[in-house]
Amino acid sequence: MPATRDQVLSSVWRDGIFKDKVLFCTGGAGTICSVQVRAFVILGGNACILGRNVEKTERMAKDIASSRPGSKVLGLGAVDVRDAEALAKAAERCAKELGSIDFAIAGAAGNFLAPISQLSANAFKTVMDIDALGSYNTAKATLPYLVESAKKHRNTGKAQPTGTGGRIIFVSATFHYTGKPLQAHVAAAKAAVDQIAHSISLEFGPLGVTSNVITPGPIAGTEGMERLSKQDDATLKRSKASVPLGRWGEVKEIADATIYLFSEAGSYVNGHALVADGGQWRVGGADMGGFQYPDFLLGGEIVSGVAKGAKKTKL
Ligand code: COA
Repeated sequence: MPATRDQVLSSVWRDGIFKDKVLFCTGGAGTICSVQVRAFVILGGNACILGRNVEKTERMAKDIASSRPGSKVLGLGAVDVRDAEALAKAAERCAKELGSIDFAIAGAAGNFLAPISQLSANAFKTVMDIDALGSYNTAKATLPYLVESAKKHRNTGKAQPTGTGGRIIFVSATFHYTGKPLQAHVAAAKAAVDQIAHSISLEFGPLGVTSNVITPGPIAGTEGMERLSKQDDATLKRSKASVPLGRWGEVKEIADATIYLFSEAGSYVNGHALVADGGQWRVGGADMGGFQYPDFLLGGEIVSGVAKGAKKTKL
């Protein structure tokens, strides 16, 4: 588990920017969300993380709290994001024990690989419920507090002495940008998540709240990459080569994107999907006519059929 400051955050962020602010995060014990929360806590905030597994959630809360002496991190287990009432109660408890909810991350998600031919209606519904309904429930539970926070820490575009507040981030994906086999359920759910985020940006922007999406690409060391991808050397090599930047991302790079959107630097960003994937989703159509991306570019292969006179530029 990344724990030192440089494993969790870039050095560009200033300590104390979230002093006494509170982050509410569903799926907060997961590999990506726990690092988003840890980064926030390192920068001065307190947090409440939620999950279904009691032991895992409480253990992670303690571990995150150890990142900054004096921080408070509540770990509320046995909370299923499909249960709107349980989330509302958890938000109430968070605000009561930590003083407010200034930021929220809707991060709980469910995923497995399955073709439509092996995907039951209940399997499809399960992922829709966890991702789409769960994100909606997270927003409904936290928005009253986020509006309060936005009133206190006004988003004027000028530096505010009390810092920022009233911001929500939804963790999504890019599967639905291009279409993806074995992910019909997740692509449908994440498309819904994005639209929930964007509706909030329209309806709550006038109240000072910002609502954005972060879409992590393939991130090293995450449950998603370990469980949803074959782990043999050839597959891993091919997977990394398929990212324009030639590597998987680091959890820290998702934490940096999060801090950007929560900080003063992200004050005018609302209704945006911030893709942090090394450019991977754009490669969806990059294997063309037998020219395999990026091998034909790196190997200097001449693309046949190009019009006469279109000379190859020396690189
Ligand atoms: N392939 C096809 N169908 C599957 C499946 C798979 N790998 N895994 C579960 N299902 C189906 C089940 O068979 C069931 O459908 P059925 O009633 O028609 O048989 C349905 O999905 C619900 O499964 P269940 O195990 O009852 O759901 P759950 O609520 O306990 O768990 C999951 C939800 C399935 C998303 C589970 O993978 C999970 O809890 N994931 C959380 C962690 C996670 O995925 N994080 C994301 C990391 S990227």
